Order: sequence, then structure tokens, then C-alpha cells
Amino acid sequence: PKETSVLSLVQPSGTMHLGNYLGALSCWADLCKIKQYDTQDLIFGLADLHAITVPQPQGELFVKQRFDTLAYLIAFGVDPEKCNLYMQSDVREHTELAWYLSTITNISSLSRMTQWKAKSVSENNKTTNYQNSSSSLGLFSYPVLQAADVLIFKSEFVPVGEDQVQHLELTREIAEKFNNQFNCDILKIPKVLLTPTKKIYNLKNCEKKMSKSDPRPNAVLYLSDSNEDIRKKIRKATTDSITDKAFRFGPSERPGISNFINILAGIERKNILEVEDDIKDLRSHSEFKQYISEKIINWIEEPREKYHELISDPKYLREVALKGKIHAEKKAQETLRQVRDVMGF
Ligand code: ADP
Ligand code: NA
Repeated sequence: PKETSVLSLVQPSGTMHLGNYLGALSCWADLCKIKQYDTQDLIFGLADLHAITVPQPQGELFVKQRFDTLAYLIAFGVDPEKCNLYMQSDVREHTELAWYLSTITNISSLSRMTQWKAKSVSENNKTTNYQNSSSSLGLFSYPVLQAADVLIFKSEFVPVGEDQVQHLELTREIAEKFNNQFNCDILKIPKVLLTPTKKIYNLKNCEKKMSKSDPRPNAVLYLSDSNEDIRKKIRKATTDSITDKAFRFGPSERPGISNFINILAGIERKNILEVEDDIKDLRSHSEFKQYISEKIINWIEEPREKYHELISDPKYLREVALKGKIHAEKKAQETLRQVRDVMGF
């Protein structure tokens, strides 16, 4: 059987923002355009089972949030005709494989994960002390489910941002351990495909990344923001007060300016030098911000309109998810049958 080449999932955990686009979606969209891949080679989707490791809306509200995320993906270039687009919770095999893998994963490996350390809470606020943690078992074993996602499709490449590299290393370890323990080579050892775009910082504090969970609405540029929202947020963004120099890239010296240069480079698919050249005649901060706003607005208008069309067509979105489920489930079942055989189930 033909083997899957690429897998990547995103959590439907809130409104998608520019960081999600530049860090994940744009890369997926590019892969969809590469002719050598057919839909079988590219599996993208929603990590909705991962999303619930922290509180999410419930019932119909979560249904809405999941389909909303699906609409963002399609609108911003993840073409369901060119890839397998599905929801993790539609393929039960993920959780079954995750259980098997959990039995060969060391607790000590999981407790080293920096994302766990950052997201977990413990009674005495020492986040590394998992013995006192009031965080859930699901949050702790999150990387095991992630390993199951990757391994169940025999994925070769997993495009991730830097923050996920550690989890991918663990996935590789788990796969090797499984193959050793059961003396087989069923699980394919995946390679990390580091996404080229840089981390996008939030507009109010250049030390924190742009994130769905940021409570300050002006800190995040959402993919559904109106032109007025975009202008206002950028006008209010924190930059610097250096006035005697041209706007140049320099993350440590001028983090706010550099963040915008990164954003422009990402959406215009230019390199930093090209963007610096484009902006060399801009003089004031307000001129710079206006320039950035108009570039973003110009870029976002078309996909944003598509997004609004899609969310008013739930039937189409359900069809996409169903098609994705059927295809993904078939692949997942093949791997799981091999795993169960070798384990003795
Ligand atoms: P969030 O932190 O907003 O909840 P996720 O953790 O669900 O986002 O990440 C979804 C994808 O978007 C991941 O591939 C992640 O690397 C990417 N991503 C999220 N935030 C940013 C950011 N600020 N800059 C670049 N990429 C990002
Ligand atoms: Na997150």
C-alpha cells in the first residue's frame, strides 16, 4: 500500500489568527499546491481530541468551533480536493493506538516536555511537580496521542513549528521502542519538517507569541478581523520610539518592527531583504503602520470573504469532514490491524 507522506493537525481551540496562518496553514496550503502529492499523501485536520486537554466550549458550541476552524483552513488555502482534511475525533483508531503506546511510554519522558511544564498547574505553583498537579491526565499524555496521530498514518514528514520539535522527538522514540519491543517495523519513524516561518509575536508584548488564548483582543490579529479591526490593532500595536533610522529587521533591537516585517515577508512570500527594500522610504511609525495595515488588508480580503461564505454553508463543511473521515479511517485501520496482530489482540 502507498504510504502517507505528510501529516499535520491544528487544534480547534478558538479563533484562528495570523500566527496560525504563518506558522501552519500557509505551509499546508503550499503543500496542497505541489503536484507530486495526491490527496493520499497529505493528511491535514483538526486535533479536536487534543483541544479538550484544556477546557473548551461544550455540546453545540464545540461543534460550531470545530467547523469554524475547518472553514478557516479551507478559506486560507488548505484545499480539500488536494489533501485529506478530517477531524481527529472522527477516527477512533487514534485513541486506541494512543492507549497501546501509553503502555510503553515512560512517565519521566512525558514530564520533561516543556509544553507540559508550561501548561500544567500544580497546587504549589511549581509546574514541574507533577505529583501535586491538578492538571488532567489527558494534558500529561497529550504527546502520546500526538505520537499516535503521526504513527497511525505512517507519516514520513511532520511539518511543525519549533515548539513542537520536542514532541516529535518523543514520537520517534516511542515508534522505535514499539518496533523494538514487538520485533517489527510496523511504525515508520517520522522526520520533522521545520516550517520556515518565524514565530509571530503578539502586538502588545513582543516577548509573547500570538496565541488564540491571549485574553487581550488587541494583541492578536484574527483571520476574521474586519479592515477597521486590523487598522485599529496595528495603530495601537507596541513598537518602539526609534525615529532616526529606517525601518530595518533586528529582532533584539526592534522587536515590534521586526515582527511586522516577518508578518509581511510571510504573507507576501518575500524574504526579509526584499521587505526592507519595499519599506525603505517609509519615514514615520504611523506611515509604517499604515503601510503594514493596507498590505495585510489587501492580502486578507479574499480568503476572509471565502471564510464567511463557508461558515454559512454547514452542509458543505460536513461533506468535507465526512469525506476526510472515510479516507483517514481506512488508513488508520490498516495500521491498527498490524499493531493489534503483533501485540496479540
Ligand atoms: P495557539 O497557540 O494559538 O493555540 P496552536 O498551539 O493551536 O495555536 O498552534 C497551531 C499551529 O499554529 C501550530 O503549528 C503552531 O506552531 C502555529 N502557531 C501558533 N501560534 C503561532 C505564532 N504566534 N507564530 C507562528 N506560528 C504559530
Ligand atoms: Na496552543
